[in-house]
Amino acid sequence: MAPPSSSSYDPVQVSTLQPGELNRMRDEALAAIDAAADLDALAGVRTAFVAGRSAPLVLAQRELGALAPQARADAGRRHNEAKRAVQSAYDARLVVLTGQRDARMLVEDAVDVTLPTGRAPVGARHPLTTLSERICDVFLAMGYEVAEGPEVEHDWFNFEALNFPPDHPARTVHDTLYVEPRGSGLLLRTHTSPVQIRAMLERPLPVYVVCPGRTYRADTLDATHSPVFGQVEGLAVDEGITMAHLRGTLDAFAGAMFGAGLHTRLRPSFFPFTEPSAEIDVQCFNCRGDRDRWPCRVCSSEGWIEWGGCGMVNPAVLRACGIDPARYTGFAFGMGLERTAMTRHDISDIREFVEGDVRFTEAFGVEG
Ligand code: DAH
Repeated sequence: MAPPSSSSYDPVQVSTLQPGELNRMRDEALAAIDAAADLDALAGVRTAFVAGRSAPLVLAQRELGALAPQARADAGRRHNEAKRAVQSAYDARLVVLTGQRDARMLVEDAVDVTLPTGRAPVGARHPLTTLSERICDVFLAMGYEVAEGPEVEHDWFNFEALNFPPDHPARTVHDTLYVEPRGSGLLLRTHTSPVQIRAMLERPLPVYVVCPGRTYRADTLDATHSPVFGQVEGLAVDEGITMAHLRGTLDAFAGAMFGAGLHTRLRPSFFPFTEPSAEIDVQCFNCRGDRDRWPCRVCSSEGWIEWGGCGMVNPAVLRACGIDPARYTGFAFGMGLERTAMTRHDISDIREFVEGDVRFTEAFGVEG
């Protein structure tokens, strides 16, 4: 007599579902998972033991259908337990090996940002160039135009029109470098003031110009002198210009160069092309003249730093440029670029600007 509901029962076919056999398959899978040393190996183990079509536990599952209902439920539960144990061991191993792989990648793929590169260093513009442009920007914002003139200049522009007659003693303090032949009247400009003359001759009134440029004097190079140096000149010629305008303009300029709120001080002086003339001092940005902060290294405890010269344009100069001094007045000022930069950046030797040592210029950064 055939068994009632297990006519297809075949003990040979379902031997894989016996408890001992299921445990063996489970332990074999667990051992393989445990032995997988990396993610590649674990992927192989997955195919062979966890989810691949011919993984023993997967094959065994197919045989559940051949069992009688009661035996099937029993074997199904045991199979499920074995499968779940294998799956969770696999999942746990996957987390561990993934973590190990990520940690290894962080070490192996790390970039050493301190390694020297083979690239040529990026060039930077000279600090005097960037300063000169910054000064021009300050004046452009106040409505000025930038004016330039030649470095090989004629005596008439450099001296004569600026009210230095041929035998004027002020010429001697300029230590002029003349261009041969002597009779040509050509020289290397000793200041940027000749650009004032050119601006007044070339431009319609009113004139508001700022004139940066290179100037030359027969000086020997030392810590505070250079035969080639930069200046910046300012000139305003209009109706009703007074010394108060000069003062306000210099205060604005000083604030832009050395720090907001710093004032200027004018000391009586002499220049042939201005009357009255004054020396400009700027308030020390370090101590601001506060005696409690003396001794001050920046201003030698003076409270003020010498900056340049200025004055009201001499009527003789206006006349030389065809301008009626009865209608127009003007102010002018001029200062050294190196001196301005040295004060701003606490540089004690003017030679730094010409020696071309990148360790000096690098400190100013790469300014576009
Ligand atoms: N040109 C003068 C110099 O080189 C500086 C100067 C002084 C310029 C007074 C000016 C000024 O425009 O008004 O020493």
